[in-house]
This record gives sequence, structure tokens and C-alpha cells, in this order.
Amino acid sequence: MKKSQIILGIVCCMLFCACEPQTSVSSPDGKLSVACSVDSMGRPMYQVSMNGQDIICPSQLGLQLAQTDLSEGFTLLRTQRDQHNETWETTWGEDHYIVNHYNQLLLFLRHRSGIEMQVCFRVFNDGWAMRYMLPEMADTVLINECTSYQFANEPTVWSIPWRTEYYEALWQPAPMSEIDTVCSPITLQWGDNLYAWMHEAALYDYPAQNYYYADGQLRTYLTPWSTGDAAYLTTPFATPWRMMVLSNELSGLVESRMLLNLNEPCKIEDTSWIKPMKFIGIWWGMHLETMTWHQGPIHGATTENMKRYIDFAADNGFGGVLAEGWNTGWEDWGKPDVVAQFSFTTPYSDYDLEYLTNYAHQRGVQIIFHHETQGNAASYQHQLDTAFAYMQQHGMHAVKTGYVAPTIQTIDGIQYNRSQSGVRHYRKVIETAATYQVSIDNHEPVMPTGLQRTYPNLMTQEGIRGQEWNAWSQDGGSPCEHVTVLPFTRMLAGPADYTPGVFNFDNPVYPNTRVHATLANQLGLFVVLYSPLQMACDLPENYMLHPEEFEFIRCVPCDWERSIMLDGQIGDYIVMARQARNTDNWYIGAVTDEQARSTTITWADFLGKGDYQTIIYQDAAQADWQTNPYATAIDTLSVHRHSDPLTINMAPGGGFAIRVEKQN
Ligand code: NOJ
Ligand code: CA
Repeated sequence: MKKSQIILGIVCCMLFCACEPQTSVSSPDGKLSVACSVDSMGRPMYQVSMNGQDIICPSQLGLQLAQTDLSEGFTLLRTQRDQHNETWETTWGEDHYIVNHYNQLLLFLRHRSGIEMQVCFRVFNDGWAMRYMLPEMADTVLINECTSYQFANEPTVWSIPWRTEYYEALWQPAPMSEIDTVCSPITLQWGDNLYAWMHEAALYDYPAQNYYYADGQLRTYLTPWSTGDAAYLTTPFATPWRMMVLSNELSGLVESRMLLNLNEPCKIEDTSWIKPMKFIGIWWGMHLETMTWHQGPIHGATTENMKRYIDFAADNGFGGVLAEGWNTGWEDWGKPDVVAQFSFTTPYSDYDLEYLTNYAHQRGVQIIFHHETQGNAASYQHQLDTAFAYMQQHGMHAVKTGYVAPTIQTIDGIQYNRSQSGVRHYRKVIETAATYQVSIDNHEPVMPTGLQRTYPNLMTQEGIRGQEWNAWSQDGGSPCEHVTVLPFTRMLAGPADYTPGVFNFDNPVYPNTRVHATLANQLGLFVVLYSPLQMACDLPENYMLHPEEFEFIRCVPCDWERSIMLDGQIGDYIVMARQARNTDNWYIGAVTDEQARSTTITWADFLGKGDYQTIIYQDAAQADWQTNPYATAIDTLSVHRHSDPLTINMAPGGGFAIRVEKQN
């Protein structure tokens, strides 16, 4: 090209920039693009393509305020582009270091009412995200959010209905046009070479979003207040991010850290007290109905029982012991029309808190406290300072919170826990806990949105149909398939307190309900389902029934350097490899559904140089979750990165776990 042509090109480009704002933005690798426009009605629109293929056709954006309809009547004033590339260190997590690399496009829009709204897009190599920003103006009421998604091709959607209590349901696939209103997140699948995961990031002071399908588009439904309004906004205000991870491989969804990247950096200065740990607890017995939460003949949290659990934890390398049923209030649990009045500073008389505090301390074990509220968030919020000060005084750094009630009583009255009011309550708990150096395991939460980057004391949450359903669910327990769906759906929203590790499959109270798994499957879950507070849920005496298999639980860490998905299909099976943080040791976990399967491990996919010794816990030849769940084969094998690939069989409802230790 001649020099004059180059100069002409540059001049044209500058002229173009001066009069036409740049309205598209691509990922750093150029594969993913978002293009924005304002249509003839003044509606903000966007579209998304990947590798030149349309994913989302022009779709509408906007907000509806009570006074002003901010979904049309805009003109585009200008745009601003930005880029960002950093690597940040996690306090704990699936990966030690995370790359946050994106290109940003900010649209400055003026509404005919005079309101200037901004829409911000970030495009990463693994997906895109968008949020709205309102300028300072009078406090305002949000009625509806108009973010919509017109897909070029209809995907299959894995989802749970939005009315699901506590998000505790089995995820189901359906063509997008057949879904009803569903909770966020959702997982999308087009054949076997395109996948997406949609959710929201950084939910601070806004209702949790849901999705529904109408007029050929996926649309947003915000969980309302009891008034029917969506949100009460104090400006300036930025909404949570609406995000979509996109990948040609399923591993691209599992390994994406976009959700964390879209959250603010850590706000807690000293994080040294936030400790990932495995724990056991006085818990499974209550779900099996062999113990009670309340004081009585079979009370679980007695001094004697707790001491036994503390000893077991100390002898077997567990960091903590959860004590459910330690406090007064449980005597009213389950009485019709009564909300139990829990005290968070009054132990039952058969739980000697002072003695147990000292004993646990001597034995190097943390007592994990329990704050069940039965949905009385308002009462809890009033007690937060005293409750956490009491914990701090007794050297306790972790609490499991609970909100068992379909709607909760917040300081604003009866509300959905996922409403803006509920979201505010949970955030208040996290922030207050941080000031008392307390970490949270939030049961019956709002769906996680990556806040743990900002507040790493929010360590784990429920919001999942966890193991407890296998104790009492009238449908007989979760099908084997359940744990092969979770890693591609709920788990992508953040750590979950699923509570793996059942070692005794007899159910004395509901013999037809049980864990649909083999023992090797239960071991595999410790690697497959990530939680930095990871509970081994069974009773100490059951672990002693299988001491050799228990050895894996004793050793497996819950804080990782790197995590890689080796193999899997949604609803069929998954194989995960994770490197223990600050070591060269790896742990591999796998689970399958009702079908027996085999998978092949290629060592070079993750091992570095050197020699490794492995211990493999796999289903024995005759194992089957229904007829022979305990049959486990334990073998050792020396490997290096060029060793022959290893093919492993999984039984129906089975799985495996492998410990890979660096030798030199
Ligand atoms: C439901 C929680 O998920 C469970 O773990 C807990 O034991 C009970 N609520 C009582 O708080
Ligand atoms: Ca299946």
C-alpha cells in the first residue's frame, strides 16, 4: 500500500470517529463481538456474534421506572472504549490466580425526558456482560427491566422454576420456547459444539433476576417486593451485570472465571482469619431423625457428643465441627403457625459452651456455629452485632446461617428472600460478619453472584438440592444424574454446601429414600463439587466402617491452585482435576449418572515434570449404586506426564477419586 493511501485511510478513520460513535466491541482474541445501536423508536439494542456466527440477533435493552419509560426515546450521544488486562490473586478458590482481560464499550444515551443513562458492555474471550448505570437524580422506583435476548437459534435450556423454594430442585432440560419463568442461572446447549451459561454478577442492592420466554425472546423478570415493585433505587446506581459465558466446549463454562471478574476486588483488608477447611458436624443425625435439634432424650448437640466430634475432627485432620441445635429456640421448630424465637447467645443447658470452646481450642479445631432464623431475618438483623460479638469472644470464625421459610420476614415485612429487601439483608449479614472476623455458610440464600471476590468471608452457600434430600425426600432421593447436572448449572454460580461423603446407605426412618451413589462416587464429589468450607456429612461411626476409603476424605484439600475439567457431558458424567493450592499434588474426581461409563485420563493434560504416585479409589467390578454400593477397589500406580493414558470404569451411580502426589 502506498504511503498516501495509508494517510488517507487514517484520515477517513479519524473523520468516521469524529462523527459516528464506535458502537461495537470485540473480545481481546477478536472471536466474540457485541454491536449496539439505537433503533428508530429510540430503543437501545445490541447483538452478539461468535466467530462470525450470530448468537443473539438485535435485542432490546432498557429499564422501566415508575415515572419514566427508559426502554425507548433515546439518542446516542457518544461512546467510550476501554480495555483491561490484569491477573489477580484469590483469597481462596478453584484457581489461585485469575486473568481478567476484557474490552469495554460505554454507551452514553440521552432520554427524551433528559435522563442520561449509560449502558456498559464488557467482552471477554469467554463471554460478555452488560449493566445499566443511572446518574444522580431523585430516588426512583423500578417497575421492570427490559433486557431481552433474541437467540438466532433456539437452544435447549437447563433450568429450575423460579418459584422453587430455596433453589432446591432437580434441573431439567427443555427447548427454550417451552420454559416457564425460571431462576437465574440457566445453562444453554446447542447440539454438542456450542454452550452458554447465563446469570448475573455483583448483586448488591437489586432484586435477583429470573428469565421467561415470550414473543420469541428470552426476557428478564425481577423478583418483586410485596408491593409489586421491582426495586427502589437511590442514584447514582449501577445494576448487577447481566452476563453470558459462551464456549464451543463444556469445559469453557466450567473453567470460566468471568463471574468473579465482574465483581469488585476484595474489600476486606486482613483476610488471614478466613480459612478454607473441611469440617464434620452434628447434622446428618438430625436429618436421619436419630438426633434432634432441640434438647431432649436424643438431643444431638450435647457436650458429650460435641466432644466426641471434636476428637474425631482433630484425629482426622478436619478444621471444624458444626454444632446445629446448640441454642435455644428449636423447641418451637415445626409447631404449626409458630416462628421459633432463636437466641444466638443462649446455649441449651446440656451444651457446655465454655468447656467446649476451651476443649476445641486445645485440640486445634474450630467450632462452626449455627444461626437458624426460620426466615425471621428481621429478628436476626437486630441481633447481628451481639451474635457475632459472642462468636468472636469465643474464638469462632465461621457460622452456618439458615432461613427455612418460603418467604422471609425482613425489616421491610414479608418478602421473597430473592427480592431487593432479601438481597440487602444477606449483604448486611456478610458485611457485619466481616467486622467480627466471621465467615458465612449461607443456607437458603439468594443465588450466589460472585460476591465472594469482594467479601471472601462469604465462603459457601446452599441454593442447591443438597445431600439432605437423600435422607428424607418423599421421592426417594435425588437420581444419580443430579450430581452430573450440578457442575454445569448451579455450581457455576459459586461454591455450594452440598455436603458429600455418605458412607452408610441404610436409612432407618425412610428405607425407600437413600443416597443414589456408590462409595467411590461419594469420594469423587469432594473434587467435583467445589466448596472452600467442605463438609464430610456422615457420622464418625460410619466413616470408621470404611477406614481405607475414608483416607481419601482425610487427605483431599478444599483450596486449589488450578482446576481443569477433563471430560464430561451435562447430565451424564464429569471428570475434574484440581491441583492443591501451593503444591504440585493433584486430585481427580468423577461421577456418573445411572449409566456405567468409562473415561480415559491423559496425564499430560495437567501433570508437570517429575514422578507422581497415585492412589486410585474406583468402583469395583460388581459395584452398582442399587445392589452393591460399597464395592470399591483401591490401587496404586506410579505415573509421569508421558505415562500411558489410564482408562477407568464407573459403575451405575458410581465414580472415582484419585490422589496424585509429586515424588521429587
Ligand atoms: C435446612 C438446611 O439446609 C439444613 O442444613 C439445616 O440442618 C436445617 N435447615 C436446619 O437449620
Ligand atoms: Ca443422563
